[in-house]
Amino acid sequence: MPLPKAELHLHIEGTLEPELAFELAARNGVRLPYADTGALRTAYRFEDLQSFLDLYYDLMAVLRTERDFADLANAYLARAAAQGVRHAEIFFDPQAHLARGVGMGTVVEGLWRALEHSERAHGVSTQLIMCFLRDESAESAMATLDAAEPYLDRITGVGLDSAEAGHPPVKFREVYEAAAALGLRRVAHAGEEGPPEYITEALDVLGVERVDHGLRCMEDPALVERLVRERIPLTLCPLSNVRLRAVDVLTEHPLPAMLDAGLLCTVNSDDPAYFGGYAGDNFDAVRAALGLDEERLRELARNSFVASFLEHDEERRAR
Ligand code: HPA
Ligand code: ZN
Repeated sequence: MPLPKAELHLHIEGTLEPELAFELAARNGVRLPYADTGALRTAYRFEDLQSFLDLYYDLMAVLRTERDFADLANAYLARAAAQGVRHAEIFFDPQAHLARGVGMGTVVEGLWRALEHSERAHGVSTQLIMCFLRDESAESAMATLDAAEPYLDRITGVGLDSAEAGHPPVKFREVYEAAAALGLRRVAHAGEEGPPEYITEALDVLGVERVDHGLRCMEDPALVERLVRERIPLTLCPLSNVRLRAVDVLTEHPLPAMLDAGLLCTVNSDDPAYFGGYAGDNFDAVRAALGLDEERLRELARNSFVASFLEHDEERRAR
């Protein structure tokens, strides 16, 4: 029995497995520049975050209809459930779809078709977190928030993703203020490729309650102390860090040092179709590579519920 856990860092577009990509391509008459799923998989050799993002955005061309988004989410929820995920807080990237002429309604209504039945169908409760692309303008982010207005009853919070270096959190101050005024929860990717200062800025300027990745906090002892003191959760993604070369090899991942420092760490899959595994695979990988014992693994699973946006009575039921 896999440990019951919550997944808090998961890009739904990053769950697009090659087989489903080809199925959707055929259904929608989209030509993919790969002969077959094997050829596509061999392209999954990334140098850094940007080389991954290029492929990730390209492959989204196959996602066109509500049904496509529903199929994508259902496939993820089934796989996550099989690996012990009881609750998932799911990122989506509307700007990447709007730019291709796929509307906010298609994306949200499509995802919702899967999410609204998820507890019954998969035993997984869900929330949606809408991410802004940080390499797009602040105006585009604000327009995206406006476009989401009719769907806010289905959206728990906002996040910030895509190419980090050179795109500091402060760029999105106003849109995060507007999101907070709408009652949305706030998270942001910070300290994946960007410097520790971006983590501080995400906390102080954007008011985030949770930091996605946050790996590079380890370069700044005063920041680590603050994150511990304020109990700020970090959503780590160990297999992603290796594939995108944020760490050289899994055996050198700082997770054990981060736990020893008292940081509220969680383990997540980020883009599981691209990085070699889902939430449970990430747990198995850190257990094997870092020699984490059962108590540490249970701590990580417990942290995932503590760090979630579930209310506490819902949290107890999920465990
Ligand atoms: N980092 C930043 N942006 C992303 C990622 C990631 O790991 N995955 C999808 N968008
Ligand atoms: Zn991510």
